[in-house]
Amino acid sequence: MIELKKVTKLYELGGEKIYALDNVSITIGDGDFLAVMGPSGSGKSTLANIIGGLDTPDSGQVLVDNRNIATMRDKDLSKYRNEKVGFIFQSFNLQPTLTAVENVTVPLLFAGVPAGQRKKRAIQCLKAVGLENRLNHKPGQLSGGQRQRVCIARALVNQPAIIIADEPTGNLDSKKGSEIVSLLESLNRQEKITLVVITHDKTVASEARKVLTMKDGRLA
Ligand SMILES: Nc1ncnc2c1ncn2[C@@H]1O[C@H](COP(=O)(O)OP(=O)(O)OP(=O)(O)O)[C@@H](O)[C@H]1O
Ligand SMILES: [Mg+2]
Repeated sequence: MIELKKVTKLYELGGEKIYALDNVSITIGDGDFLAVMGPSGSGKSTLANIIGGLDTPDSGQVLVDNRNIATMRDKDLSKYRNEKVGFIFQSFNLQPTLTAVENVTVPLLFAGVPAGQRKKRAIQCLKAVGLENRLNHKPGQLSGGQRQRVCIARALVNQPAIIIADEPTGNLDSKKGSEIVSLLESLNRQEKITLVVITHDKTVASEARKVLTMKDGRLA
């Protein structure tokens, strides 16, 4: 379970204060599928990054299974990310010089999984997203939807409890986008992975079990 309690993230630039998150409290149950919507600049990515331990709030608590990740040391926070969270970004963030299999093995390297097992697990995950016939393609040799599926495979490879997807369909046409959403939805349903999807797309949000809308750093 993920509980945000009065989470605030403030940016001060040239004397101007911007509350990226303003006193946000949310509870996300295990196995939930939550969509977060709202206009550009409303704090969606800030929220996603804080839940995923990529960023820390200025005040408030972020309890994941009763551990407050808001005050964790960097070392513990990277362990949390590696063990618990899979990230999927709009801009893919794949290594261009690595093949699909090699990209997917990267989180396993950090997790200290022995070399012999890494490739096997990466191939399993690429199969799960339907890319068993593109294992040795590099990102530049894949279509947009295929690249996004490599990202999903990479997010899955450490068997995360939580997947956080920030605009996962933002760079895809609507057909490829809905394929990605069905894939995420089936992971949520079958593997009971908690799914948080940031999206501008109403059809994506309509797949979710709960929809939150943000405005100016608050829940609308
Ligand atoms: N490093 C930073 N320094 C100053 N302000 C920031 C910083 N990062 C984000 N902000 C501000 O915080 C607010 C929330 O940003 P965030 O990226 O969470 O928005 P978003 O809802 O994800 O927007 P989009 O839909 O465009 O991705 C924005 O107004 C943004 O300008
Ligand atoms: Mg964003």
